[in-house]
Amino acid sequence: MSSKRPHLVRLAVLASGRGSNLQAIIDAIEARRVDATIVAVISNKQDAAALERARKHNLRGIFVDPKLFAGQPDNREAYDRAILAVLQEHDVELVLLAGYMKIVTTVLVNAYTHRMMNIHPSLLPSFPGLDAQKKTIEWGCKVAGCTVHFVTEGVDEGPIILQAAVPILDQDTPETLAARILEQEHKIYPKAVQLFAEGRLQVEGRCVLIKQGMPMGEALISPS
Ligand code: GAR
Repeated sequence: MSSKRPHLVRLAVLASGRGSNLQAIIDAIEARRVDATIVAVISNKQDAAALERARKHNLRGIFVDPKLFAGQPDNREAYDRAILAVLQEHDVELVLLAGYMKIVTTVLVNAYTHRMMNIHPSLLPSFPGLDAQKKTIEWGCKVAGCTVHFVTEGVDEGPIILQAAVPILDQDTPETLAARILEQEHKIYPKAVQLFAEGRLQVEGRCVLIKQGMPMGEALISPS
C-alpha cells in the first residue's frame, strides 16, 4: 500500500476565542483523518486562546487588529480586505470560521464562495445568531444540535453541509447543553472538511449534495 498522501487542502481558521473547534481540526489532521494543512490561524482578538493553541502546534498565528480600521467609513470591508490579503498570501483554499465572532462581509464571501465554512451551535435555520443554546432551551425544544454550513452574506444562512442532533434534558442549562453540542461540533467539523478535501460536496442552490452518498444516521427521539 502506498503511504503517499493526497493533496492537502490549505486551510485558514478564523477564531475569536477558546478555539476548541480549531483544536479538533488540528487533532484530526495530525491523526490523518483529514487531508488538510493549516497554513494560518487568524484572530480579531489578540488574547484569543485559539492563537495560543496555534503556537503550541507550530502553526502561524496572526492577530489582525480591528482598531486599525476603525476610522474608515467602510471599516468592516477594509478589515476583511486585510484578512483576504493574508489568505491570498498563503494560498488558502478553504476558510473555516470557528467561533469567529465577527460578521464577514462580501469581500470574503465573494472571494471564497463555497470555500468558506462556519459552525453554529444550533440546528439551523432555527436559532441563528448569538446565544443559540439558551434560545433553544427557552423555546422548549427537545432536540438541539449543531450545523456546518457554507458562508453566504446572511448570518448563519448558507447551504447546510452536515448537522448533528442531541437531546435536551429538563435539567439542562445553556452551559450543559453547549457542552453536549460541542462534543458533536468536534466530530462534524473535521468530517465536513474531509468531505471537501475529497471533492464530495456539490452545491445545488440551497442544498449541498454529498457525492458517493453517506450512511443514514439513526433517528433521535427525545425524550426517548
Ligand atoms: C462554538 O460552540 C461555535 O459553534 C460557536 O462558538 C463556539 C466556539 O467555540 N459559534 C457561533 O456561535 C457562531 N455563530 P470554540 O472557540 O471552542 O471553537
